Amino acid sequence: MAGKKIVVLGTGGTIAGLTPAGASGHLGYRAAQLGVERLLAAVPSLQGVSLEAEQVAQVDSKDMGPAVWQALAARCKHGLAQDDVQGIVITHGTDTLEETAYFLHRVLAPTTPVVLTCAMRPADAPDPDGPQNLADAVAVARSSDLHSVVVVCAGQVHGPLEVAKVHPHRLDAFSSGEAGPWGRVEAGAIRQLRPWPQPQDGGAPRLAEAVARHAPAAWPRVEIVLNHAGADGMIVDALCAAGVRGLVAAGTGNGTLSESLLAALMRAQQQGATVRLSTRCAQGEMLAQPSHPFEVSPGLSPVKARVALQLELLASQP
Ligand code: SIN
Repeated sequence: MAGKKIVVLGTGGTIAGLTPAGASGHLGYRAAQLGVERLLAAVPSLQGVSLEAEQVAQVDSKDMGPAVWQALAARCKHGLAQDDVQGIVITHGTDTLEETAYFLHRVLAPTTPVVLTCAMRPADAPDPDGPQNLADAVAVARSSDLHSVVVVCAGQVHGPLEVAKVHPHRLDAFSSGEAGPWGRVEAGAIRQLRPWPQPQDGGAPRLAEAVARHAPAAWPRVEIVLNHAGADGMIVDALCAAGVRGLVAAGTGNGTLSESLLAALMRAQQQGATVRLSTRCAQGEMLAQPSHPFEVSPGLSPVKARVALQLELLASQP
């Protein structure tokens, strides 16, 4: 699309990582060191593409949280409102990328592409993967028929609901599980494996307003508790004592909970906490049953169910 630009928002991550003197290998680096302008300058194929870069944050994404999410949502919203913006690319760490992708999916519901990308190797590695991922992300951001938040990594295009980091080291660290990726990027061309979904607002304007209105420190505390052998619910009582507003129970199998954890979650609910049920199983989807003691978060991993509940509670806050 002639005359239109891609806005590239930097947030840090390994894609912007550098290796300190004396360290070696792919693991001894520090994430979030290089500015987004420098990342773009390292991709020769982007010369001649109309790009506008902005550094929104510079964090290792293990430290991602409400303050960066609020700023990112605001900058995305600003970019999406400009007539001359064709799409948005966000550089991000891999560790919590799926949470940010889901967050932006819920609050933006964009009608132009918002593409998150990343790297598993730092920018100064002898064989970095960031430049190719960035080039692929820009190619996807230029697709006029994509109306969604997506993740692009290792030549794959993933949807915001399914995507998850599944490997600590591999370059193709992300998977969409049984659903598979939405598409692939091959030599700059996009091969769709299934039709891009139609845009859905899903209450995004209401959530976006709540995100913008509440200071990050006022976002409700929502925690994940895991069912596991020996889970006795003590952690739930401690969280309630600390004022938790929401709890996502990552149950075993189809959302089962030990008797003690179930009792503790029931107590939490009686004390005013909102409880949602998900599964710790990495594949498949929970089937909601009448016997389930709490509302089920269908199709959402525990980390995404946590974001969903935090947004729901935030939007109901005065
Ligand atoms: C991060 O998530 O910021 C560090 C790890 C990575 O990007 O791979």
